[in-house]
Amino acid sequence: MNVIYWRDKYIRFFKYHKYQKKFGFSSWHMEPVSSKPYVHDVIEYVKNDGKQGDTIVECGCGLGDIIADSAFIGFKRKGLDCKREVINADEEIFRKAIQDGEISFEIGSFESVKGEKIDYYIALNFLHNIEPDQVKNMFEEVLSCNKIGQVITDSVNSSSYPYNHDFDYICDYGYSKRCLGEYKVQNGIRKIMVYGKSQ
Ligand SMILES: C[S@@+](CC[C@H](N)C(=O)[O-])C[C@H]1O[C@@H](n2cnc3c(N)ncnc32)[C@H](O)[C@@H]1O
Repeated sequence: MNVIYWRDKYIRFFKYHKYQKKFGFSSWHMEPVSSKPYVHDVIEYVKNDGKQGDTIVECGCGLGDIIADSAFIGFKRKGLDCKREVINADEEIFRKAIQDGEISFEIGSFESVKGEKIDYYIALNFLHNIEPDQVKNMFEEVLSCNKIGQVITDSVNSSSYPYNHDFDYICDYGYSKRCLGEYKVQNGIRKIMVYGKSQ
């Protein structure tokens, strides 16, 4: 841990401590964005690849470090998270953007979106806790019930994480895969994968 990490942790504590006290979300959310280098790379990728008006849905959005980033102003955005306390905090933190119609938040998960056209569907840093057959069902449901341009997700190869997923079944839906980046995690590597529709 370096000086930048501790500076950012301190800043985040002052920004979010009152919300953690009020809503009681997990301390994981108090970790600064600089401890998650993939966040910056995913934001840059979608911002540069997409265009104003595109739709982004992030499942497992936490405190909106990705979906609520200002780089996405002009995109249509929805954040989903299965934890009520996280969404309650998002609704207070991002009240103005919600009122302005820039973004919405909802308690939910993969099954919560149906019949939508989504340009970027993001699910990062939680699937490693879910058993592979369940994750496969979740992706199959969201891919067959919606029109999704690109899926951005991650797999973690580490003895400290329960499951290391292979998402190649996503390619059966007409997507081709590429690796956006690899990031060190405890005892291993996180790979961020982009599945895009072949041109
Ligand atoms: C570790 S945080 C990651 C937040 C964000 N994706 C990021 O990378 O910064 C994981 C989030 O996913 C949520 N989550 C876990 N399992 C989920 C599920 N099955 N469906 C929706 N959200 C889930 C948790 O509540 C938590 O807010």
